[in-house]
Parts: sequence; structure tokens; C-alpha cells
Amino acid sequence: MKKTVLVSGGAGFIGSHVSVELIQAGYDVVVADNLSNCDMTGYEGVCKITGRDDIPFVKTDFCSEEQTEALFSAYKIDAVIHFAAFKAVGESVAKPVMYYKNNLSSFLNVLEAASAHGCHNVLFSSSATVYGEPDKVPVTEESPRKPATSPYGNTKQMCEDILNDTVRATAGTEGEIKGILLRYFNPIGAHPSALIGELPRGIPNNLVPFITQTAIGRRECLSIFGNDYPTPDGTCLRDYIDIVDLAKAHVCAVARMLDGKMDKPCEVFNIGTGRPVSVLELVNSFEKVNHLKLNYKFAPRRDGDVTAIWADPTLANKVLGWKAERSVDETLAAAWAWEKHLAGK
Ligand code: UD1
Repeated sequence: MKKTVLVSGGAGFIGSHVSVELIQAGYDVVVADNLSNCDMTGYEGVCKITGRDDIPFVKTDFCSEEQTEALFSAYKIDAVIHFAAFKAVGESVAKPVMYYKNNLSSFLNVLEAASAHGCHNVLFSSSATVYGEPDKVPVTEESPRKPATSPYGNTKQMCEDILNDTVRATAGTEGEIKGILLRYFNPIGAHPSALIGELPRGIPNNLVPFITQTAIGRRECLSIFGNDYPTPDGTCLRDYIDIVDLAKAHVCAVARMLDGKMDKPCEVFNIGTGRPVSVLELVNSFEKVNHLKLNYKFAPRRDGDVTAIWADPTLANKVLGWKAERSVDETLAAAWAWEKHLAGK
């Protein structure tokens, strides 16, 4: 029997790439999204890449208990991957209530409906932001979580705790929930088909969309936030992970849950490459691999940025049998191909 995976926020950047990988791995997927931060491009891309015209898309606002309940009643869901959330750090500082309301209530509704409908497997998309400014790099899953520096980061920590508590409370009951928390580092790039990728609304907050939009001429100049950090070239260090590699980690995690292979009822994995890359190195790679010059300048540090964080992905490598494979160059070539596709070039 084919298993069915519900992907909440499945039309977005990460959700669309995960949907493709799940379908290609033989799962049935239900894509659900309220389209508040994307359009149907992601879903249409998933259909094109997989050559399928029968993937259910259900417009669902997970903040609505009724809509969430209706979705779980309409489909027999074996596992849910929860992406549906707001994700802009700065906006979350300006509009905390909106962030807490949206990110917490949608997850609570998903957990309640999953438990009530006998869907025992919940995978939550968390973030390396939970580690804050780490005392030691690379970070392992045992590294301490630090107080969140934004309401966005706080919602990630709170949802991690909510899932942990729910797993504990439902153990051995009919509505038992098992959980996996995947802590993503910096997902970048696009599908090699250039049919899906990141579609930021307005001015991008994240580095790579800002780079590609500057290269295509939509933005005048990239500001590199800070070149006086205590790092080799003075710019921040991050663990940039290819979006397709990241998506594949979800397939491994879902298989682990559905095949009953979990060692503990709630597991945590870092999803990163283990490779620190500076902002300047990333910009240089982008220029080199795509044979162009990028207009950039150094600007003051951005509030809330940490100096350096990258993953120790050993646990995911060993336990999930997953490893990031793509080079930064390959990923930046894919990001550029996607930007050109958007511009119709
Ligand atoms: C941020 C969030 C993280 C979230 C991720 C994906 C925090 C502290 N960070 O990560 O939780 O999961 O986005 O949405 O909560 N940069 C520039 N110029 C730009 C944009 C960025 O120099 O125009 C630099 C930043 O200073 C940083 C690096 O590029 O050093 C990466 O920034 P970004 O892509 O925004 O990701 P993070 O801040 O690492």
C-alpha cells in the first residue's frame, strides 16, 4: 500500500521541493497551502517535474480548525510534514501577534487533527535559529538552544516544545504521535529543472534571492551586512544547503517514521552540509560559476545576525542515511537558472 504524506505549505519554496522528492520516492502526496505567501507556481512545477496531473491540491488555512479537520477527514494521511508558517525574521519583530497566532495555531490544529485521525507521524520544519549565537561550532543536536532573538525564532522553539510534549502525552494512546524535528541551516538554490525555486514577495530578506535579483537587474546593489566580524574574511559564516539535498532529507525522515525505525518517539536532526561558507565566498562563487560580476558593497551589520553557525550533520548522515551532495557552485548555478527562468530569459 502506498503511503500518503500531507505537505502543509506544500506550494512554498521548501514544500514544493519536498513534494517532488516524495512523489519521486513513491509516496502519494497531498499538497495543502493557503497561498498567503506564494501562488500556484510551486504546485504547477511539482506536477510538471513529476509528470503527474493527479496530485491533490487543497487550499487550506491551517489556522482554521474546521479546514484542517476537513482535510484530515477527506484523506487518509499517514504522515504530515508541517511547513505552513510565516518566516520573515524582521516582520516577526514588527508583528509578533501575527506570527505567534499564525505559526502556533496552525501547528496546534495540525497536531490535534493528526492525533484524532490516527495519523501518527509528524515532521516539523525547524531551524538552526534555535541555536542562537552558538558557543561552539559546528553545532550538534546536543548544543544548547539559546533564547530566541525574534518572535519567528521563538515560534520555532515553541513548536519544537509543543511537539515534544504532545509525543510524551500521547505515547501508548490511540492518538499516539511520533515526531521528527529537522533543524535546517540555510536552504538555497532551486530545482535543476528551473521549474520551482524561491519566489520572495517584495524585497528579499535572504541572501541568495537578493544576489540573483541584483544580477538580473531587479535590485541595484547587494549590501553585505558587516565585514568586521571575527571570521577569516570579516563576513558571517553560514551552512548553505542545496534545496534538493534538503528535500531528500525529508524523504529519509518520513521513511524512518513510516517504517517504524525510530529509536525514540521524538527525534531531532541537523540538516546541513557541515561546511562553513562566508557571505563573500558565496558572492565570489556566484560570480565565478555564472560568469558575471555582481554589484555589491559593504554595509553595517544587520541586527540579530550571528557571526558563525554551521552544522555537524553526523547524526543525520549516520541515522537517516542522508548526506548533502551538491557543491555550492552547482547550487548557485541552479539559483541563477531559476532567476532567469522567472525573468523569461
Ligand atoms: C535567516 C534566519 C533563519 C531562517 C533563514 C531562512 C535568524 C537569525 N535567521 O537566516 O532563522 O531559517 O533566514 O529564512 O533567525 N546577508 C547580506 N545581505 C543581504 C542578506 C543577507 O549580507 O542582503 C547576509 C546576512 O548578514 C547573513 C547571511 O547573508 O550573514 C545569510 O543571511 P540570510 O539569508 O538572511 O539567512 P540567515 O540570517 O542566516
